[in-house]
Amino acid sequence: MTTPSPLDLLDARYGADAPAIAADAPWNAVLDSLLGHASVRAFLPDALPAGALEAGIAAAQSAATSSNLQVWSVVAVEAPETKAKLADWTGGQKHVSDCPTFLVWLADLARLRRCAERAGSPSEGLDHLEMLLVGVIDAALAAQNAVAAFESMGLGSVYIGGIRNQLDKVAAELKLPPLVTPVFGLCVGTPARAGAVKPRLPQAAVLHREHYDLDAQDAVIDAYDATMQGFYTSQGMKAHKWTPHSVKRIADAAALTGRDLLRQKLEALGFLMR
Ligand SMILES: Cc1cc2nc3c(=O)[nH]c(=O)nc-3n(C[C@H](O)[C@H](O)[C@H](O)COP(=O)(O)O)c2cc1C
Repeated sequence: MTTPSPLDLLDARYGADAPAIAADAPWNAVLDSLLGHASVRAFLPDALPAGALEAGIAAAQSAATSSNLQVWSVVAVEAPETKAKLADWTGGQKHVSDCPTFLVWLADLARLRRCAERAGSPSEGLDHLEMLLVGVIDAALAAQNAVAAFESMGLGSVYIGGIRNQLDKVAAELKLPPLVTPVFGLCVGTPARAGAVKPRLPQAAVLHREHYDLDAQDAVIDAYDATMQGFYTSQGMKAHKWTPHSVKRIADAAALTGRDLLRQKLEALGFLMR
């Protein structure tokens, strides 16, 4: 199999609005892998190869972490009955029960509270929103390193934000102590079908130079809507634009599919968010 050229990878990622890259621009196998990312939602039933989970978690633990606090953890779920419950609570997402390994990534302040208790030291800092944010950021950085690692091994994955739809049930099922909350799930396994590389917003929308510019983004987003229509058509799917799809997702509290109740549920898990 020939590796696609940088230009092929950029075309797939941006369509007609790919950034110009100089012929001698730095490029390497890491960029090949990162630009080739596509979520996978169809998995073979095979277990992960021996050592793949541990290698993925080593990559996750190699991510930067705020003040080296490491305020995240992950629960690997492989029991079919538990995956079935989680699939149900995530809105019936079949890939959650079909994947061999489902990882639930956690913001974890419980470990530090216990360290403080053992040290006879106060831990009031943990009751502030900032520390929950630190846990969420740490978990996200760690998980994305794991995703890149799994993809480098030929495995596929898809994040599952639906794990927050019924946070309370997930927390009880996984026996999470107070101050530990799911951030997202991640299905991992051998792809049954490769995912298609999905175009992203042109860089003109996200890369600002010296100062931020919102007005300049309208035309860029119109162009992206056209790119996404073309993408979905090429995949044999309904040719919807990005803008209407995205604004529907934020139209009202109901569109958050249970996550509009997140504050109350996080408070019940012991996060005071002062
Ligand atoms: C935090 C997060 C939560 C997500 N939740 C879901 C989900 O619940 N179900 C799903 O099928 N995909 C989910 N995704 C995958 C996104 O839909 C996907 O990454 C996006 O459409 C871009 O496609 P790509 O990853 O193939 O490039 C999630 C992605 C992220 C980063």
